[in-house]
Amino acid sequence: MKNFTVINHPLIRHKLTQIRDKDTSHSDFRRLLKELTGFMLYEVMADFPMREVEVETPLERATCLELGCEISCVLILRAALGMEDAFIELVPEARIGHVGLYRNEETLEPVEYYVKLPKNVAESAVIVVDPMLATGNSATKALDIVKKHGAKTIKFVSLVAAPEGVAKLTKSHPDVSIYTASLDRCLNEKGYIMPGLGDAGDRLFGTK
Ligand code: URA
Repeated sequence: MKNFTVINHPLIRHKLTQIRDKDTSHSDFRRLLKELTGFMLYEVMADFPMREVEVETPLERATCLELGCEISCVLILRAALGMEDAFIELVPEARIGHVGLYRNEETLEPVEYYVKLPKNVAESAVIVVDPMLATGNSATKALDIVKKHGAKTIKFVSLVAAPEGVAKLTKSHPDVSIYTASLDRCLNEKGYIMPGLGDAGDRLFGTK
């Protein structure tokens, strides 16, 4: 599928197995989500633009490379909060935005309740993250929002994706590249990804 990448690496597969396990504690879940986000970020940023800079090493002047664009990471509340530290540690220059959505129980459509985006989001490379790409409704809405604020170069990163969510997102935002560590089997009748890892927010925060 165009614009869709499953990041396959033994270390990612190994940690994904651990994070799926229902007996993994919330503290281990937190650590694993952060580690997995870091590994994914490495791949997601592989084609980011670079620019030349002159650096004085202790021995001589050298022409080196540095990241050549502003980077904004947009977290979909609340489970994506578990991915924030990986961004902050690996790309400390990145600005962080937050999008909060709830589901209207009549229309089943996501409604925004909180949006705070970096002021230069329109000029940034934007990485929108949510550990779970399930129905694709929240992801679609979050991408609508960042585009409304002018974002043009956007990637979407989820740890686990359902085919239904990928199909919805590639249709609603065909220009956005989607990355995941696993394309799972399907959604169940409650909208959970199968086999998935359960409710990512509850497992991250230990709320259930
Ligand atoms: N959100 C979750 O946290 N888990 C799922 O399986 C689907 C959506």
